[in-house]
Amino acid sequence: MSIKSEVARRRTFAIISHPDAGKTTLTEKFLLYGGAKKLAGSVTEKKHQSSTSSDWMEMEKKRGISISSTVLQFEYDDYVVNLLDTPGHKDFSEDTYRVLTAVDAVIMVVDAGKGIENQTKKLFSICKKREIPIFTLMNKLDRPAKDPLELIDELESVLGINAFAVNWPLGSGDDFKGIFDRIKHEVHLFEHVPGGAYKAPMEVTGIEDPLVREALDSDAYKVIVEDLDLLEGAGAIFDLEQVLAGKLTPVFFGSAINNFGIQYILDQFLKYANQPSNRFSLSTDGSKSLEVQTDHPKFSGFVFKIQANMDPKHRDRIAFIRICSGKFTRDLSVTHARTKKKIRLSSSHKLFGQERETVEEAYAGDIIGVIGHSSLRIGDTVTEDAQLLYDEIPSFAPEHFKYLVNEEVLQFKRFKQGLDQLLQEGVVQNITLSSGLQQAPILAAVGPLQYEVVKYRLESEYSAKTHFEDTSWTSICWLEPDLDTVNLKLPSGSVFAKDSHDRNVILFAGDWAKNMFQSDNPKIKLSLEPI
Ligand code: G4P
Repeated sequence: MSIKSEVARRRTFAIISHPDAGKTTLTEKFLLYGGAKKLAGSVTEKKHQSSTSSDWMEMEKKRGISISSTVLQFEYDDYVVNLLDTPGHKDFSEDTYRVLTAVDAVIMVVDAGKGIENQTKKLFSICKKREIPIFTLMNKLDRPAKDPLELIDELESVLGINAFAVNWPLGSGDDFKGIFDRIKHEVHLFEHVPGGAYKAPMEVTGIEDPLVREALDSDAYKVIVEDLDLLEGAGAIFDLEQVLAGKLTPVFFGSAINNFGIQYILDQFLKYANQPSNRFSLSTDGSKSLEVQTDHPKFSGFVFKIQANMDPKHRDRIAFIRICSGKFTRDLSVTHARTKKKIRLSSSHKLFGQERETVEEAYAGDIIGVIGHSSLRIGDTVTEDAQLLYDEIPSFAPEHFKYLVNEEVLQFKRFKQGLDQLLQEGVVQNITLSSGLQQAPILAAVGPLQYEVVKYRLESEYSAKTHFEDTSWTSICWLEPDLDTVNLKLPSGSVFAKDSHDRNVILFAGDWAKNMFQSDNPKIKLSLEPI
């Protein structure tokens, strides 16, 4: 098969949701449809704490949250599906944002009983910024749900995205009778099946079919017919171009736990979602203007995630690479763009939770994990075409700043080694004071739970005991790179510092300090992200 046709059958996406909306359940069901039974089990196990995968994942299990993100690949029909798992907890949104740079579309799961929740809002805003196509599943229709028109309206009013209901629920909770497919004008009746472990049987007729009238009481039937009329008259129309531009979300109603409407969303998603999109390389003037075709003959990709010690038996470090162009083959020799050195991508793997399989070949849209290349950092480009350089990874302003104190001075080496590794993984960011007067590493985080991961992993993986101490800084701002700061005066408690990429920043001790500095120095640009 040509590179072009291999790329055309790939779909690379993530499922995003507020915790508990049903992301894990949906992932598991997709895997079942893809025939990946074993994988499906491992996804639920991970969440439900029944197996020990790696020590530090103990922490995930104890909290019932997913901290690490994994990649699942399976074939379904003629498609090669790459499903990237994202951590649900808000404190790990930085990691999630990085994962989102590696996908081409997302499925957003909403608990239909609760509507749009906070974390969904945040994740959605990132997808919107990147113009990623978003498909929506209104889940848990087997439970009492909000009015479907209200749910559609929330997408539009709360998230600001137009919504097209692909199907429409026939009741909810105990009265949930099925869904009406607005594209095919068919009805899928729902039958409760024990344990929800089987594909729900479907009978397909039309909305006028007596079976539907009989299934619903006459009032409910009337309301549904009215709703459908209203949607036909005033609702958005299905426009694939708008969907692919991230401006219109196709909405599906269903029940993940019961497999109801789930194969349908998978089929429709695979049909309508885009194949891996072309990425942009930096041109010599630094602008992102060079479009790299996915079937460009030369291999290229970028590292979007690094994770060490996923498997306690191996204790190795894996760099996850999203392929952007060309064909990857085992042992491929590439240029590591940052150092301009040649490296051989040996030991390349597909990862299924704890299982690894050597990758013989892969194409744009695929994710490979390479082991043992300590020079690889998040954001790095690896390429056969030395002209290409990707700049895909966003930076986010941390909101927490703490000193990390090593409790056992004699174990400094282990402490340093562990901290270096966690910084490379981007678990937290490192800040260095420009004055050089600093008692301990200053770690900056978007969410406080990131600190717990640092402490836990340092102790469990590197036997380094640590604790955190508070600082008085509450915000960070980046300065223009060539700004001369020598004669600048800062409000008391605020300091000049460098971020982990050696860029100039100011740590402010409170909003008042930032406001004061800005009003004293109106010409100085304070940026919430690196300039
Ligand atoms: P998450 O990954 O988004 O955090 O959510 P997850 O899939 O783990 O689902 C959260 C809870 O919601 C789980 O219940 C799950 O079974 C349930 N759930 C998911 N989809 C549906 C659905 O369509 N209908 C109903 N009624 N429930 C659903 P739990 O009690 O936390 O775990 P479990 O022991 O039931 O698996």
